Amino acid sequence: MSQEQLRPVRVGLLGIGTVGGGTFTVLKRNQEEIRRRAGRGIEITMVADLNTELAKKVVGDAAQVVADARAVIANPDIDVVVELIGGYGVAKALVLEAIAAGKHVVTANKALLAVHGTEIFAAAREKGVIVAFEAAVAGGIPIIKALREGLTANQVQWVAGIINGTTNFILSEMRDKGLDFDVVLKEAQRLGYAEADPTFDIEGVDAAHKATLLSAIAFGIPVQFDKAHVEGITKLSATDIKYAEQLGYRIKLLGIARRRDDVKTPAGIGGVELRTHPTLVPMKRLIANVEGAMNAVLVQGDAVGTTMYYGKGAGSEPTASAVVADLVDIARLLDAAPAARVPYLAFQPDSMSALPVLPLDQVVTSFYLRLRVADKAGVLAKLTGILADQGISIDAVIQREADEVSEGNQTDLIILTHETTEGGMNQAIAAMQALPTVLAPIVKLRKEELA
Ligand code: HSE
Repeated sequence: MSQEQLRPVRVGLLGIGTVGGGTFTVLKRNQEEIRRRAGRGIEITMVADLNTELAKKVVGDAAQVVADARAVIANPDIDVVVELIGGYGVAKALVLEAIAAGKHVVTANKALLAVHGTEIFAAAREKGVIVAFEAAVAGGIPIIKALREGLTANQVQWVAGIINGTTNFILSEMRDKGLDFDVVLKEAQRLGYAEADPTFDIEGVDAAHKATLLSAIAFGIPVQFDKAHVEGITKLSATDIKYAEQLGYRIKLLGIARRRDDVKTPAGIGGVELRTHPTLVPMKRLIANVEGAMNAVLVQGDAVGTTMYYGKGAGSEPTASAVVADLVDIARLLDAAPAARVPYLAFQPDSMSALPVLPLDQVVTSFYLRLRVADKAGVLAKLTGILADQGISIDAVIQREADEVSEGNQTDLIILTHETTEGGMNQAIAAMQALPTVLAPIVKLRKEELA
């Protein structure tokens, strides 16, 4: 059959908000070029949205608009269901129903896949349908494609990314203007960079969902959001951003997934670190200079070395760019056997790895500590003694007159350590905190060289 004779792929959108609208616009604007790439047309023929008036305004006569998402799933003419509703609730039911109805699924829903991915991919495999999710991680950056296909020769060693634009915007503003978190969050909400309920973003949950997906694709492990360490930026102070800067570091919220072959686990095969937290990164690294709402992901592979992917992680057309790319992949594979497809999580489902996600205590990283101490003889010696007892090596120590301290008998000590385990560091901190000369709760941040 010549390509001219292939019928268009018929797509049903569930939700036509920001990303759905962008998907409609991009598909329409670039339809001819997309058809030449896909080998057939891609048409949105049906849209479900509770706000049917708004949906009709966006799609005009081009597609049938309904309020009931299940009408899209039940339509035998629809080949692909694009889920853009979000969340774990109704979206999960609809995705599973679409799969059960034999539809291919495209979704931007990282929360759904990070938490329920195992169930969803198993159901899709059973039915022989594709579940594509490029838009779920870092919006328009084709990081899923890069990891699943472009880097497939490599043993991936680690992935580290700025994968939440809201928090990167807030951190950039805090650093630029020396402002505290609360002040910048309000400004970000006013400008539309942060949602009215920003909890998932600022508490690190959104980034951890994405890191969970990246860990699964990088190492061929199941999605295990429940084992991820999740820490946001709400407790970060402008003081630490300033001190980090003075030491040559920027603080970024990183999602990190790292293979660890050195660690002994019950299965005897090492493990994987999966963590999201504010991180000091050397200023000279490219990723430290990713500012505002932009995203960037670093991948370290044994063959390729370090690669970096940079771009817009959210927004209407950047995210639509990823959704449409998934639709083109599906269009090309519509008539192909399931075995010819790229596996959902990059590795064949029967060849997944049992590498466990390591508990936080076993994570190895270096640390930034800030201690408010009495400014008198012997204090530093005591602290360094405690670190030495734990086998923790010090990289740098600086003493700073704390801005808010008026009396001359207190000072801030900032200690940078070399790599050690989180468990060991916590024990040392507990011992230091117990000293009468340590006058306030010790601030602990993690530091990654990303070399
Ligand atoms: N809320 C996300 C962010 C975008 O701020 O990056 C969608 O994942």
